Amino acid sequence: MKGKWLIILCAAAAVARQPILFPHNRHVALGLACLDCHSTADTRAAASLPSVRKCMLCHEKLATEKPGVQRVREYAARKTEIPWERVYGFEPAALVKFRHAPHYRAKIDCTTCHGDVAKATVAERAVKHTMGTCLDCHRQRNATEDCASCHY
Ligand code: HEC
Ligand code: HEC
Ligand code: HEC
Ligand code: HEC
Ligand code: HEC
Repeated sequence: MKGKWLIILCAAAAVARQPILFPHNRHVALGLACLDCHSTADTRAAASLPSVRKCMLCHEKLATEKPGVQRVREYAARKTEIPWERVYGFEPAALVKFRHAPHYRAKIDCTTCHGDVAKATVAERAVKHTMGTCLDCHRQRNATEDCASCHY
């Protein structure tokens, strides 16, 4: 039993264990843009995750025979958001203050920091973010190296 839990914990470190396997690739293939679902990545600090209400704009009628979609509909019927597990992020102790908006304005593509999500199924941590990777680009691009810009 102990061994089994250890394996589950290790797997969770590499890939978040999501309540529903959401396929990015199929949804982007339908013509949806990243900002259709992560609607504040251009204007705010957080990119945001879509509400289950957004999913229901289509899944009220579409692909309702699929088990994954039936799970989505169950959450919607209970008026409960899907408890997605976070993929990217920093230890709270590092007190990092990341903001999407200035990067969007600087025309840095989502793929630079998240990999080719359009081809991915469930989101994985495809790109590692460390203070070094932030600073490498900031030096190249003449962006801030001030501690207080990136830390609370
Ligand atoms: C139909 C809505 C939808 C579209 C379109 C979409 N996403 Fe997502 N995205 C989600 C959902 C739902 C999750 C949470 C599930 C997961 O992490 O797999 C997510 C998770 C993510 C994550 C991980 C978030 C975290 O927890 O750190 C990233 C990064 C991401 N998406 C980037 C993108 C990019 C880049 C695009 C465009 C190529 C895109 N998404 C298009 C719905 C969408
Ligand atoms: C623009 C319409 C649209 C939106 C919005 C949308 N979907 Fe879908 N989704 C589809 C269609 C169409 C399919 C079937 C696609 C296919 O089989 O290639 C699908 C398939 C799925 C599947 C089944 C994959 C499988 O084959 O097992 C899941 C799970 C899913 N969507 C979850 C979500 C979630 C969660 C959201 C909200 C974050 C969402 N969808 C938003 C249109 C949409
Ligand atoms: C310069 C690198 C960078 C770029 C460019 C970038 N992201 Fe992120 N993204 C991050 C980091 C770092 C995090 C984790 C932030 C945190 O936890 O404070 C993150 C988190 C996320 C999350 C998780 C939810 C959230 O609000 O934190 C989503 C979804 C996401 N990004 C989507 C996108 C999309 C879509 C784009 C393109 C429009 C994009 N990102 C561009 C670095 C980037
Ligand atoms: C691929 C290049 C690149 C990467 C990677 C990157 N940045 Fe940036 N960052 C920029 C650019 C370019 C700007 C915009 C500079 C400007 O507006 O003049 C910026 C702006 C910012 C700003 C706003 C600064 C201000 O005071 O307006 C913060 C905060 C920031 N980045 C934090 C981070 C953090 C934290 C990371 C790592 C998780 C990171 N960045 C990774 C290129 C990058
Ligand atoms: C461009 C953004 C950026 C700048 C500028 C920056 N940092 Fe960081 N720093 C980060 C990120 C992102 C992390 C988290 C890295 C991780 O989780 O691997 C971090 C982590 C740290 C940590 C480790 C915290 C911990 O205990 O985990 C310390 C200490 C730190 N930074 C201090 C500084 C100091 C001092 C400065 C100014 C000389 C500075 N940082 C400037 C982005 C930045």
